[in-house]
Amino acid sequence: MMKKRVAVLASGRGSNFQAVIEAMQDGKIPATCVVLITDNPKAYAIERAGKAKIPVMILDYSLFSSPELYERALLSAMQQARADLFVLAGYMRIIGGVIVRSFPGKMMNIHPALLPCFTGLHAQRQAVQYGVKVSGCTVHFVDESLDGGPIILQRCVTLQEGDDEDSLAERILEHEHECFPEAIKLFCEDRLEIVGRTVRIRSPDLPSGVSRHE
Ligand code: GRF
Repeated sequence: MMKKRVAVLASGRGSNFQAVIEAMQDGKIPATCVVLITDNPKAYAIERAGKAKIPVMILDYSLFSSPELYERALLSAMQQARADLFVLAGYMRIIGGVIVRSFPGKMMNIHPALLPCFTGLHAQRQAVQYGVKVSGCTVHFVDESLDGGPIILQRCVTLQEGDDEDSLAERILEHEHECFPEAIKLFCEDRLEIVGRTVRIRSPDLPSGVSRHE
């Protein structure tokens, strides 16, 4: 199987980026990370990319005079990457419609809640404040809605007595680090098929174009 080209967009710490790089280095995902694109010159993800010898493209958001100009530069950087898949690993900006329409079915995001609950920022805080007993994380394709694209994988995390935003975030993160590489692996093995709002996952033994209905 030909290795896929994966580009990662991240704005901060980059622990999910790290999990993805390691899964690629260990041969668990048939892909190469071709570039890290970031809007934040202080993102720790940049150091992680340096250690893994992954090229970095910094588009410092604060240096653009309008959101439109930033989006145009981002689109151009993404086109240059010639990636099969764009992975949003803690990328903290909303991706505009022009970019979403340029890469249909080729952009994935991870969100620290069980969508469609608690979209947007501070999902773990929203979950604690709401008083839910179960939350988790969701990997989904990106469409023009906010955290609303077709769902690829979800993992549950049970809330414990006394949990606060930080303790919950920490436990969810452990699942993110497994779930995100797993979803990227399925994509890179050509095993994901978007059917309306649903993502079908093909068994590894079935050729592409065939899916099992259970
Ligand atoms: C994660 O919780 C992810 O779900 C959310 O942003 C956070 C990024 O963390 N989208 P990291 O930068 O990957 O460590």
